[in-house]
Amino acid sequence: SVPIVRTLADLRLAVAGWRGAGEKIAVVPTMGALHEGHLSLVRTALGNADRVIVTLFVNPKQFNSATDLAAYPRTEEADAAKLAPFGVDMLYAPGAEQIYPAGFSTKVSVSGVSEGLCDAFRPGHFDGVATVVAKLFLQTGADSAYFGEKDFQQLHVVRRMARDLDIPIEVVGCPTVREADGLALSSRNQRLSSAERAIAPRLAEILFATTDRLVTGAATEATLAEARAAIVKAGYREVEYLELRSSADLTPLERVDRPARLLVAAWLGNTRLIDNVEVPAS
Ligand code: PAJ
Repeated sequence: SVPIVRTLADLRLAVAGWRGAGEKIAVVPTMGALHEGHLSLVRTALGNADRVIVTLFVNPKQFNSATDLAAYPRTEEADAAKLAPFGVDMLYAPGAEQIYPAGFSTKVSVSGVSEGLCDAFRPGHFDGVATVVAKLFLQTGADSAYFGEKDFQQLHVVRRMARDLDIPIEVVGCPTVREADGLALSSRNQRLSSAERAIAPRLAEILFATTDRLVTGAATEATLAEARAAIVKAGYREVEYLELRSSADLTPLERVDRPARLLVAAWLGNTRLIDNVEVPAS
């Protein structure tokens, strides 16, 4: 089984011991409801470090609504059971007061890469992410941290934050894990009805098909407009955004003249799904 640690004091005690022995420490931040996407990060972390800490904290500051926060799955026991076979060294599941003690007043806000895309629809979300991740980096003092490309904008926000604040940690991006039918794994997939689940993989299919068209020189704006229409035609209720951005810094692109990423957020019924794929420079 995996040792569960609930306080910053106990975390620091364990980490000091490992540090004293000269061990390299990795952290995998999560909000729990662990699935194969999270576990792939854990595997990569275990391959790169002597000690692996998985964190489980449902961060209230990154939710836009109290209902969404309340509806977030909380499955700590099952999560700990999923981690047990891996030999993870610690599940750090702090109480809220360990992260945001009374009087907590600081906000970490990253401009540039945080703007547009998800931020246009979830204002303040990335401030919440940057704040909690900065705290988890500083609390654990880890040498490396593992994030999924599934949340591509988040990965950029976290990288920029760590660089800007001189937090000595290597931020490692890991490929998106998908179901056999292409749907990107997400804790939100559990909320889909069986009819919605049947429609869901069309999003990734359309992303990959659109990528092929862009790489072979199709006009960007017209191609993206057709893809947005195709997502709605497939049964999605609404497309929040579908955009072509530079992979390196997320600047909007009019053509694929450098390594790029096609990013999407769309509503399937009452579930918001995001995904993104690489668009190689042609
Ligand atoms: P959460 O949604 O639990 O995701 C934790 C990590 O798992 C993130 O780095 C996310 O990108 C990664 N992940 C999720 N689905 C994935 C998939 N299908 N393939 C690969 N990686 C995947 O993201 C968060 O939590 C929070 O914002 C957090 C960073 C923990 C800060 O609160």
